[in-house]
Amino acid sequence: MNREELVAVARDAAKNAYSPYSRFRVGAVVVAEDGRVYTGANIENAAFPSSNCGEATAIHTAAADGVRKIDTLAVACIDATDVRGAYPCGRCRQIMAEFRVDDVIVAGGEGSEIREHTLDELLPHRFTFRSDAH
Ligand code: THU
Repeated sequence: MNREELVAVARDAAKNAYSPYSRFRVGAVVVAEDGRVYTGANIENAAFPSSNCGEATAIHTAAADGVRKIDTLAVACIDATDVRGAYPCGRCRQIMAEFRVDDVIVAGGEGSEIREHTLDELLPHRFTFRSDAH
């Protein structure tokens, strides 16, 4: 899938968001190194810190299916009118690091700019037990 297709899948996944508190819908899609694809959305909780981000849902769904290396993640916040309001939070960047995401595609709602970054750009000098990671 090219980046436009990945963003379309992430935007579609965002429609399953459970976000009655923020009303901010986030969808994500990950592509594992073997080509398998998983999606996720943010799932909120009345006890706010118990909420889950869309990227974390997608990554952990993949991990629960046995995935250990993810090549690409696309995230789309369909209620963000500008891509600058759609960047992954710090916790999600660290979760991406655990499963060695290389490339991160970021998009807002329909028609917004699409940006692409390496995880190295988004989370340089990150914590890891792997001495060969970066
Ligand atoms: N959210 C995500 O799903 N991903 C992020 O990287 C940042 C924020 C969600 C969490 C919450 O449900 C809503 O967006 C507002 O913070």
